[in-house]
Amino acid sequence: KQLVFSGVQPTGNLHLGNYLGALQKFVALQDTYECIYCVVDLHSLTATLVHDDLADQTRGIAAAYLASGLDPKKNIIFNQARVPQHAELAWIFNCVARIGWMNRMTQFKDKAGKDRENASLGLLAYPSLMASDILLYRATHVPVGEDQKQHLELTRDIAQKFNNDFSKRISALGYGVEMEVGEERVSGFFPLTEPLIEGPATRVMSLRDGTKKMSKSDPSDLSRINLSDDADAISRKIRKAKTDPNPLPGDVEGLAGRPEAENLVGIYAALAGVPRDQVISEYGGRQFSDFKPALADLAVEKLAPINAEMRRISADPAYVDGVLRDGGERAGARAEATMKQVHEIIGLLAD
Ligand code: TYM
Repeated sequence: KQLVFSGVQPTGNLHLGNYLGALQKFVALQDTYECIYCVVDLHSLTATLVHDDLADQTRGIAAAYLASGLDPKKNIIFNQARVPQHAELAWIFNCVARIGWMNRMTQFKDKAGKDRENASLGLLAYPSLMASDILLYRATHVPVGEDQKQHLELTRDIAQKFNNDFSKRISALGYGVEMEVGEERVSGFFPLTEPLIEGPATRVMSLRDGTKKMSKSDPSDLSRINLSDDADAISRKIRKAKTDPNPLPGDVEGLAGRPEAENLVGIYAALAGVPRDQVISEYGGRQFSDFKPALADLAVEKLAPINAEMRRISADPAYVDGVLRDGGERAGARAEATMKQVHEIIGLLAD
């Protein structure tokens, strides 16, 4: 059975990278898969424990989910803290995973910086909690941007080690599910989850520097388009986006070595829902002074309605809380069922 899970942290404004790498994909998947979309508030404690307005940030991400077009009836939309089993399974995964696995994570190295001894233990264990999010629902597919790929590989490593360590108990209890690993068919309790990292905008880059990822933490607001930006701000940022002096190339191969051009073409393609070569067949050979206004118009056309809808939904926090509460109950029922089996597999007396 196929199930999609993904999550977004409630830290700062969402930007175009989050939208194209994640939210837009979430919406596209809701018609074909059963989907669970989480606001991962516990994850946001790993960098700084104290936030000014965590509850409102959490509601803000939920509002962005809804404004992008996610249907709260069709999907389960909730925040992580409502389902305590996320933290419980993460503890068990802390005992499955090895410290070396965590030390190798590039995101940990980047975020911890030089003073690793002073990073929170939660930051090191972050990928365990992420594996728990996914495997608590035995999700088979996870739509994310390119930057989460390594975390998803680690999620598979954790699932595989758990399945191996407990293989006898899993089959004695009859809890194994058949799955394909490469050419082999094996039985295990947790699936080996597949990342869904596809399309022209899996890694949206800064508008000021085509070699840096578009990110919430970049000090320059001109580097990113926020989902909260109005039409003027969107147009201005695209007009000011860094480019090289040459016109757009005549074919997709010509984008190689031109990170800014490649980024803008990728953004256009993802917003329009077409492959990059279609954008190039229309704009190849044209100057950025032609292409940028077209990109700005497209971005405003796609993002302005989401922005307006986010404002409308955010004006009614009780509605948003209702969605998260309802989603939390539905997620909680599934989480409880999984944890009951996990307790039995491990031999934890808990009922
Ligand atoms: P977060 O909150 O940093 O980002 C949310 C999503 O946005 C994607 N993204 C991007 N995609 C393309 N270009 C960019 N510049 C860009 N920046 C961010 C991210 O890849 C992500 O899909 N660890 C996760 C949250 C998480 C999660 C999970 C995800 C926790 N548990 C379980 C999936 C499944 C994170 O920090 O995402």
